This record gives sequence, structure tokens and C-alpha cells, in this order.
Amino acid sequence: MTWVSVRVPAKINLQLAVGPRRPDGYHDLVTVFHAVSLHDEITVEPSGRDRVTVTGEGADQVPADRDNLALRAVAALRSAVRDRAGGPGRVHVTIAKRIPVAAGLAGGSADAAAALVACNELWGCGLTQQQLIPIAATVGSDVAFALLGGTAVGRGRGEQLTPALAPATQYHWVLALADGHLSTPEVYGALDRLRGGKGARGDGQSPRPGGPRGVAPRETAQSPREVAPDTGLMSALRSGDAKLVGPRLSNDLQQAAVSLFPPLRRTLTAGLEFGALGALVSGSGPTCVFLAASAERALELAVAISGAGVCRSVSRVSGPVPGAAVVGTG
Ligand code: C5P
Repeated sequence: MTWVSVRVPAKINLQLAVGPRRPDGYHDLVTVFHAVSLHDEITVEPSGRDRVTVTGEGADQVPADRDNLALRAVAALRSAVRDRAGGPGRVHVTIAKRIPVAAGLAGGSADAAAALVACNELWGCGLTQQQLIPIAATVGSDVAFALLGGTAVGRGRGEQLTPALAPATQYHWVLALADGHLSTPEVYGALDRLRGGKGARGDGQSPRPGGPRGVAPRETAQSPREVAPDTGLMSALRSGDAKLVGPRLSNDLQQAAVSLFPPLRRTLTAGLEFGALGALVSGSGPTCVFLAASAERALELAVAISGAGVCRSVSRVSGPVPGAAVVGTG
């Protein structure tokens, strides 16, 4: 085999409940990951040394050196299988990006997961998804989910995954991509400051439909010692009814993201005014996510948000979709 290509989805978080900062600097969390139909494609082929080439959306912002998460994943898999397969060789990783960089959509983690799947195939390691998951977790908190895809509850740093049992409903989403980036550690840092500061109000339930339209998303004080899955969201997902899911979307990082990127408030409000069933910042942002009742409503919503000039661009996606998968070999 001389090359392997893998397609891997972006994720959004339907719930992101963030607990206190741990001694290791991470935050314990409970999250509901949801993989959506916005994909990067990565190709690996043997090379004299490990290297990466990035093309497409935001390629110039992706590190092309050892800081690249895909290269870190290659190194992690190589050291995990060192004693097998006669010692895996070096690879050239080509990443065709469509998932925006530093957007709260786990694009870098997706590329790392794809690199694991691709090298597992190229090197003939034969590791199962269950065996790849702990290796993925050493590379980043969201990498394991990009292997799994679908809808899953993440605990710990987000790497301990349980697939969510749900009917085969497809949800229709509009992503409002922002004109800027947010750094995940900075957003977690802002949340810590908001929670520690006098009068800080941690966020961020999305506004409930039926609440006053045109009012900025409601923010509630919260600094929980323990975080738990939202039983209301889980039962809404089991019902497969987007109208029930929309009001349950929540993200504790939302207020922190909005504090670092204030225009997001206008974007969220606009999407709700245009009839989204729910709205929230995706992960650490700055992408905003809107749930629509159908593919047609998603198209109308995308046109309206785009026309309002409250973001850089919009993208319509659906989910859940499967995780990283081989799409070609040669
Ligand atoms: O694991 P990953 O490298 O993706 O995390 C990036 C950063 O996000 C961490 O260095 C940390 O600052 C923050 N983070 C966190 N708690 C988590 C996940 C990430 O504080 N559960």
C-alpha cells in the first residue's frame, strides 16, 4: 500500500457542562458530542521524514511542524505499535481542510483522529477502534470522539465516551462561521475568571423558544462542583424531535467565548429571531450553531443569517454522521 485517505467530520457540542479547573489545568466536563457533515480529508503516504502539507480552508493558520496534531497522532501511534509490524516508517500527511481552524469545531482533533486511522491502515497495525481510542486521548481531549462520530456523551476531559442511544433522526444545523478565531485555553481561562470574579455569571443556556425574541442569550451563574448530563437533553434526543432538542442546547463556555468575542451575541440573537429552534456557541467558539426544523428551514435560516451580515459565512450541515473512515487506498 502506498497511500491511504481518510475522511473525518467536525463536531459540535449539544451540551458542554464544565466543572472546576483540575490540578492538571484541565476541566472535568460532561459533554454531548455530535458529529456533523463538514469533513476534512487527510492522506498519508510513506516519506523520508514525518511532514505535513495543509491545503484549503485556513491552511495558513495550521502549524506545519511538530505542533501539528496530525503529526503528533502519527508519533503517538508509532510509539504505541513500536514493537509490531517491523517498526512503522515515516509519513507525509496531506490535509485538505474544510473544517475552519480554531473555530470550536475540533478540526485539529479531527485531523489527528484521521491520521491515526490512516496510519493504522498504511502500517497494517490492525488496531480496532477501541484500541485506537486511548492513543487518541493522549493527543487531545476531542480526538477520541472524532474516531467514534455519531452522538456521544464525553466525560473526564471529554475523552471518556459513551455513545448516545438515539433514533436515526438527522438534525439540520446552520453554522455561522466568525471572522476570527478563539484559542481554547484562553476561553477556559476566561471562564475561570468569570466564575472566580466578583459577581461573575457563568453561562450559557441558549434562550428558550417562547422567550422574548430579540433579547440576547440568557446567562446564568454557575460554577458547579460536579457536572452531569442534562436529562432533558438526553430525553429530547431519544424522542428524535428537533423542537424538543433546540431549547435544551447549552454551553458553559458560551459566556466566556462571548466575553472574548462580543459580536457573537448579535449572531446568536439574529439566528433566534430568524426562527432557529435553538442557538449556541460551538465548543470554545467562535462558530455559532443553529438548529432548524428541517432541511428547508435550514436553507431559509442560512439565507437570513447570511443576509443579516452577522458572521463571515454560513454553512448548512446535518448530523449525526459517522467518525473517521478510510475512503481510499492505493
Ligand atoms: O486536550 P486539548 O489539547 O484539546 O485541550 C486544549 C486546551 O483546552 C487545554 O490545554 C486546556 O487549557 C483546555 N481544556 C480544559 N479542559 C478540558 C479540555 C480542554 O481546560 N476538558
